[in-house]
Amino acid sequence: MVNEPDPKCDGVGGVSRRTVLGVGAGVTAATLFPLKLSAQDQAAEVYKEAGETTPISFEINGRTVTLDVDARASLLDLVRDRLGLTGTKKGCDHGQCGACTVHLDGQPVSSCLTMAAKVNERSVTTIEGLANGNELHPMQQAFIDHDALQCGYCTPGQIMSAIACVNQGQATSPEAIREFMSGNICRCGAYVGIVAAVAQAAETMRG
Ligand code: FES
Ligand code: FES
Repeated sequence: MVNEPDPKCDGVGGVSRRTVLGVGAGVTAATLFPLKLSAQDQAAEVYKEAGETTPISFEINGRTVTLDVDARASLLDLVRDRLGLTGTKKGCDHGQCGACTVHLDGQPVSSCLTMAAKVNERSVTTIEGLANGNELHPMQQAFIDHDALQCGYCTPGQIMSAIACVNQGQATSPEAIREFMSGNICRCGAYVGIVAAVAQAAETMRG
């Protein structure tokens, strides 16, 4: 963002700061605008080449689902909008917050960056697939026990990453847990409780 120039400043060499900034803004706009159009054109081309929909069949939370998906759709939009599994949250939609974390073939992925078409013949687990009937997964229970949330928006993604942390043998210390979980942002700052919850669940899951 460009700050407004100080009106009291006369500039240098007869050229005012306002003039320089105005020209700069024009150049920036001229540079960025064609790029934006170009990106839109490229997206349109990709869509045209990919076709409108593509058929997929995959397993989600132990259930086999077969349907046609928009070739451009993300896994996040597929689970939330098509399958009604709204436990998985959309935070940034750019792979930067971890709120959308699900497991794909047992590995944690950002579902906002995963194309829905790519899960064909694979297995997806979301937060809804963790509990066994009324019995919560040990990680879900640990988050409750340690009050590891405030608004709860990041919590499904935190829990999916936390389970992967334990499954991959990375929950060996608070530092190791923090490192593994560093891609999951909590705006409420519930990190102390989250690390304690992961440590507790790690004990239960190993036992
Ligand atoms: Fe996917 Fe933020 S919504 S990482
Ligand atoms: Fe609110 Fe994490 S509990 S964002």
